Amino acid sequence: MRIAVAGKGGTGKTTLSALVIGALKQRGILPILAVDADPNDNLGPALGMEVMRTLGEIREDFIDRRPDIPAGMTKGALLEMRMHQSVIEGQGVDLLVMGRPEGPGCYCFVNNLLRKSIEELSRNYRAVVIDNEAGMEHLSRKTVGAVDRLLLVSDHTVKGIRTALRLRKLADNMDVTVKETRLVVNRVGADGLSDAVRWEIEEGGLGPCFILPEDEGIARACREDTPLIGLLETPYGRAVRKLVDTMVTQD
Ligand SMILES: Nc1ncnc2c1ncn2[C@@H]1O[C@H](COP(=O)(O)OP(=O)(O)OP(=O)(O)O)[C@@H](O)[C@H]1O
Ligand SMILES: [Mg+2]
Repeated sequence: MRIAVAGKGGTGKTTLSALVIGALKQRGILPILAVDADPNDNLGPALGMEVMRTLGEIREDFIDRRPDIPAGMTKGALLEMRMHQSVIEGQGVDLLVMGRPEGPGCYCFVNNLLRKSIEELSRNYRAVVIDNEAGMEHLSRKTVGAVDRLLLVSDHTVKGIRTALRLRKLADNMDVTVKETRLVVNRVGADGLSDAVRWEIEEGGLGPCFILPEDEGIARACREDTPLIGLLETPYGRAVRKLVDTMVTQD
């Protein structure tokens, strides 16, 4: 199953990605490939994994330094080997960090190869979870290929819902296969959704949304920069487990 998490900046995409990975792991849906598609690479620390190398560095290296290609090896095979080496291995969860975006110059050759390699790499995993940057650069450039579930994260504001709606339209217009898009409203207080937000969701035809609670335990872990993946017994973690349950049983 391929799950992509997208949404406006700061709405909780990385937090959700980390806990979705935690919940999948708890259910024994392993191995998992975690893809950090945000140039600010935050998913590693959220998973308690140290980021040692990124795909961006490999790409730059390939283009700037034109590596010596060993005899009997093609350029494509070398790049694929390097791509595999850039996967950071963990316990049941491996991490691929996309790194910084490309600079000026023609990257088409390398990007096409990378796309193919990521596609092949992801076949080795039962689940792939992609934490996107704000916007949908990697999805639109098809670096990560088709997705089964696109989780659009919004904060508990009318503006946030409107952004999610725009992103959904963007996803609909992109030439990338998304089986199901689901709106996730994050940081909702004990009183539930406000009338204005509820109205905006209905008006936008965004379908039934999934609600995640405001959770001080999550906010604290972020403040203290401790890994989030294990926080499955918090109110937030329990809600994410339910979300994962619905996705898994639907599959
Ligand atoms: N349900 C929640 N309860 C309390 N705090 C939360 C919750 N969800 C997210 N946060 C806090 O909001 C902040 C932003 O979260 P996060 O980094 O996951 O967002 P993001 O969408 O990945 O941001 P960016 O666009 O910068 O990548 C963090 O400090 C996090 O602790
Ligand atoms: Mg993030």
